[in-house]
Amino acid sequence: MLEQIQETAAFIRKSMHMHPETAIILGTGLGSLADEITCKTEIAYADIPHFPVSTVEGHKGKLIFGKLGDKDVMAMQGRFHYYEGYSMKEVTYPVRVMRELGIKTLFVSNAAGGTNPAFSIGDLMVITDHINYFPEHPLRGKNIPYGPRFPDMSEAYDKALIARADAIAREKGIKLQHGVYIGTQGPTFETPAEYRLFHLMGADAVGMSTVPEVIVANHCGIKVFGVSVITDLGVEGKIVEVSHEEVQRAADDAQPKMTTIMRELINRA
Ligand code: HPA
Repeated sequence: MLEQIQETAAFIRKSMHMHPETAIILGTGLGSLADEITCKTEIAYADIPHFPVSTVEGHKGKLIFGKLGDKDVMAMQGRFHYYEGYSMKEVTYPVRVMRELGIKTLFVSNAAGGTNPAFSIGDLMVITDHINYFPEHPLRGKNIPYGPRFPDMSEAYDKALIARADAIAREKGIKLQHGVYIGTQGPTFETPAEYRLFHLMGADAVGMSTVPEVIVANHCGIKVFGVSVITDLGVEGKIVEVSHEEVQRAADDAQPKMTTIMRELINRA
């Protein structure tokens, strides 16, 4: 596994014209940030040795290297979800490659259903902590010596970055919620009983991604900042039928706010 990661990194390094210490997973609500990256080099996932084999979704996937403002960045356009059938090793493979390429900080976004009654559709929630509710742990198996066998998770989301994001949000007049994200396998949205359970467990929002990548980033010593866009509500009395299209629409509407927070934070980090 380690050898494969190193081969992947060596391949990518040949095409890199910079040495970014910042990586971005362009999840839901952050797609347009890719348009702001200048001096780009792009590498299709399909051309990268040992990268997870593409499904329809992953087929469009690519790595983008370039400048966001005056910061060198590496961005993943398209991520691998567990519900698509990828193993946890595949879902988190790119994060290990990031570690090998010298990435120090990872920025992630996602769409999530809000279980906190104080949330509204379109809110941004800074992820302050998470609950791993996936059926398989991404670090299960032989330990890759990027980190310890039993990694600490007491500050999975960097507190200094959260404080800086709050300051940016105040300055720009953007409302930022804080909360705990629970990551589940999907692909179903939750039943009302499941939303209630997740809220009782301490979650403010639920989604189908992010947690595996964040666990592996922490194992690798990469700092993480994450934001969820609340696209629907799993709150008693407010639960209505959800569809992927509605999730996408709500995320698109929140995109300008999300992009502002991420762009400013990355530039000041
Ligand atoms: N549940 C799980 N994942 C999601 C949701 C949800 O309600 N909304 C967007 N992604």
